[in-house]
Amino acid sequence: MDLAKQKWRSRFEAWLLDASADANHATQGDRKAEVIGAMTGTVVEIGPGTGVNMRYYASGVKVIAIEPNPVMHQRLHAQADAHGVDLEVRTLQGEHLDVDDQSADGVVGTLLLCGVEEPQQVIAEAHRILKPGGTYFFTEHVEAPPSTRTRGLQRVLRRPHRWLFNGCRIDQDTASLLRAGPFASIDIDEYDRGAAGLYVRHGLIGTATK
Ligand SMILES: C[S@@+](CC[C@H](N)C(=O)[O-])C[C@H]1O[C@@H](n2cnc3c(N)ncnc32)[C@H](O)[C@@H]1O
Repeated sequence: MDLAKQKWRSRFEAWLLDASADANHATQGDRKAEVIGAMTGTVVEIGPGTGVNMRYYASGVKVIAIEPNPVMHQRLHAQADAHGVDLEVRTLQGEHLDVDDQSADGVVGTLLLCGVEEPQQVIAEAHRILKPGGTYFFTEHVEAPPSTRTRGLQRVLRRPHRWLFNGCRIDQDTASLLRAGPFASIDIDEYDRGAAGLYVRHGLIGTATK
């Protein structure tokens, strides 16, 4: 998807990411602080958007941010500055990282795999760049369980949602993609945000270890 041609949708997406940041911190902040906050050395964050995760990095960590959409960059830098993060932004797709094999101590990707064109390739790239024993932290919204009202809603809304939100797939079975490899070990917790989450209420959060 050519993000440069999606300018108003990108601005809307950036606004929405900022508007939902407080709710995101309230529901996932503890887990992010625990996992992201324990990362050291060089961490590659893929698709950081407007920088919701910047507050969780420990001081001294170098963060390489892979963010293909320039509309996000100004807010991303502002968040990094506000939280004292040593940030380098690269305007690239997560499917093809210009990062050496086994060079990253950690990889972070939150609300990412729903919107990339080739999620399996992004997972493979995260694995390639991680040092042995390194952690990939993820949180993703996913398809609703079969035969639920929410699943029916997702079927109806998948196309307009995808158009409005720069290619986001609301009914992706991301757990299966993560479990398909190549990570040696995957730890996934599922969650349901309830009615407040509307038709994107189901999700997963966890880590994959190389
Ligand atoms: C839904 S936003 C999530 C932003 C942030 N990670 C968060 O948790 O709020 C998805 C982000 O992934 C970026 N993105 C889209 N396609 C991508 C790709 N192929 N590789 C890397 N990032 C991508 C988008 O520009 C956007 O910033």
